[in-house]
Amino acid sequence: MILSPSLFAANAGRLDEEIAQVEQAGAEYLHIDVMDGMFVPNLSFGYNILSGIRKNSRLFFDVHLMIEKPERFLDPFIREGADGVTVHYEATDTLDEIAKTCREENVKFGVALCPKTPVSVLEPWAGVLDILLIMSIEPGFGGQPFMPEAVPRIREASALRNKKNAHFLISVDGGVNPKTAPLCREAGADILVAGSSVFRARDRKVALELLRG
Ligand code: DX5
Ligand code: ZN
Repeated sequence: MILSPSLFAANAGRLDEEIAQVEQAGAEYLHIDVMDGMFVPNLSFGYNILSGIRKNSRLFFDVHLMIEKPERFLDPFIREGADGVTVHYEATDTLDEIAKTCREENVKFGVALCPKTPVSVLEPWAGVLDILLIMSIEPGFGGQPFMPEAVPRIREASALRNKKNAHFLISVDGGVNPKTAPLCREAGADILVAGSSVFRARDRKVALELLRG
């Protein structure tokens, strides 16, 4: 199981310290939410944040672009240190080009699906995908409750992977906590993204252990 604490829930006044804590506590990835106020009704980090935090962390930077036409900003995110870039299926018409850029730049290629987007839309890309991200909330805000409908969708993603003989990892994002994590794990998730349940916990190490199960 790969754990990807979501930086959006961290204390923005001391990001380096927050990141170091989850790194020491055993997280594998760091999930970085990018919002543009258009694709989602909220704003968050830009790529400048990456250049700042990249110097002090060896975590895999798992960048989640919740922005319209993410192809416009792929290059700067890669340049500033993203290890994986996940774009929304709903936000772009250029998945093939994005996949190609990621492959050329040796960066993992991820696609995220909002709760209402059928998993089957990704069938044509199953072979080139590195990460399939199932949203278990409507994107835009942390701290929302987990949508149970995500569980059968994780199973569907897993079935798609088998059917296509593909190798992508299945990630789940939104409302993941010690109660909902077992449902995701049992359904076949490989990566758990968790904001509030990690950064709002008093002991991050315990929080991560609880998610890992
Ligand atoms: C929401 C973001 C999530 C969010 C998760 O749009 O994509 O990554 O930070 O936060 P929690 O774990 O608090 O639901
Ligand atoms: Zn996210």
